[in-house]
Amino acid sequence: MIVRVLKTDFLKYPADLLAVGVFEGEKQLKGFVAELDKALGGIVSSLIKDEGFKGKEREILFVQTHGRIAPKRVVIIGLGKQKNSLCPREMAAVVVKYAKNYDAKTVAVKIGKASAAKLKKSVVDLTEGALLGSYKYITYHGQEAQAEHERKKIEEFIIIVDGVEPRRLVPSISDGKRNAEAVMFVRNLVNTPASDMTPRHMVDVAKELTKKSKRITLEVFDEKEMHRRNMGALLAVAKGSDEPPYFIHLKYHPSHKASNGKYAQNSKLKKVFLVGKGITFDSGGLSLKPSKHMESMKTDMAGGAVVLGIFSIIEALNPSLEVHGLIPCTENMPSGKAAKPGDIARAMNSKTIEILNTDAEGRVVLADALSFAVAEKADTIIDLATLTGSCIEALGEEVAGLFSNNAKLGRELNKAAEASGEYVWEMPLVKEYQSLIKSKVADIKNIGGGHGAGSITAALFLKEFVGETPWVHLDIAGPAWAEKETFASVPLGATGFGVRILIEFLHPSRP
Ligand code: BES
Ligand code: ZN
Ligand code: ZN
Repeated sequence: MIVRVLKTDFLKYPADLLAVGVFEGEKQLKGFVAELDKALGGIVSSLIKDEGFKGKEREILFVQTHGRIAPKRVVIIGLGKQKNSLCPREMAAVVVKYAKNYDAKTVAVKIGKASAAKLKKSVVDLTEGALLGSYKYITYHGQEAQAEHERKKIEEFIIIVDGVEPRRLVPSISDGKRNAEAVMFVRNLVNTPASDMTPRHMVDVAKELTKKSKRITLEVFDEKEMHRRNMGALLAVAKGSDEPPYFIHLKYHPSHKASNGKYAQNSKLKKVFLVGKGITFDSGGLSLKPSKHMESMKTDMAGGAVVLGIFSIIEALNPSLEVHGLIPCTENMPSGKAAKPGDIARAMNSKTIEILNTDAEGRVVLADALSFAVAEKADTIIDLATLTGSCIEALGEEVAGLFSNNAKLGRELNKAAEASGEYVWEMPLVKEYQSLIKSKVADIKNIGGGHGAGSITAALFLKEFVGETPWVHLDIAGPAWAEKETFASVPLGATGFGVRILIEFLHPSRP
């Protein structure tokens, strides 16, 4: 899909479908919508009355143009109340989804006058929405379905603006495309069946990323190296699987390579560690999950996939930070070799973990990754993990739990989330609950023992491995996977949740 910005008379642009937005509760059509109504001889206003169109969020009103204006068809999209209206990303996604009903090849959206800053943000969001709303995971479909998908593709998405020169908005199109591509990259990884998306395959994906950018280097630890580095926690989880585990360490070098081939080190630059849970399949291990709960467990590497997704665009994001990506990668499987409830593992930082439930494996593999980040002198750690079902109980499927040991960093991530349109909600690290994960036989145990607060005790467990380093933990168990289509820009299946928050964090679009 080609996305373009044009400054032209929208009534003269021959799109297959023209979309305009209308707020809820507006007494009278205003601005370009009034202009459109006039050009169509008042059909828009009479249809609004006849059809009882209220302008509620995502409401759609189809208008025939009968050749009176250049666009073949017009669709009015309800934007909801002006104060808390549908964001342009969602509007664009609603439009491209609707356009498929008409096999439209060129889709135009007319947007009103606004400040340059607002227009830039709208163009980024519209571009993201047009691309993300068109996403479909078709890799494993047959030829016919693939051909049908190709045939229905929208060729051009045109944003018709007023006031600002289109060329000033071209970088915003690039930003929107970059962001959407990273999100779709993650969706593809997470949607891939677990037997194909093995830890080995995750390593291959990481290797590909280093080929695309000279500023990314990669270190991969195999089992032997993990033993050498005392990563006993990750190794304990990996024991039951026939697939070998890997620990992936990506590094983004913000400064150019010097003539001696070395990267110029700038010790002033902050080191940010992005850590993603990389369980390529979570069967629960010997504490086996019931089959229904296992069905979507290929998503358990979604945090790791987000880290890979960020590295897929990191050069374009160009942060002045040394960004590291850590992914402890393994399956969690039952077998004669698997870790048993009651086993004790020793993490890299030498803390011992009593594994009472092998299904609480995420925190165990993260224990080594977080210890590694601390040993590497991280200034900031952000982890993303499909960690607990309890977080879904608490916040539902659309909201990630945010936990932090540092108020400033917590606020920063909260702000990034708000600007990105991905929902997070801060949860407390209640120090009194620490006692719930006290073990009688080891330094810590991996479950809270059925006293509720499951996502908090999981976060408190992680906190034990970050020391004093400012850290944010995002429990993305809910929003990583969509069981129903709440947003037009987020299709069923893998969502790519977390990518946009991290983009905002590394490269704020906010003023
Ligand atoms: N991967 C799961 C968490 C999960 C559940 C992610 C549902 C996405 C959807 C995690 O490893 C897990 O099994 N957690 C257990 C912990 C419990 C045994 C203490 C859970 O939340 O039930
Ligand atoms: Zn589990
Ligand atoms: Zn898991």
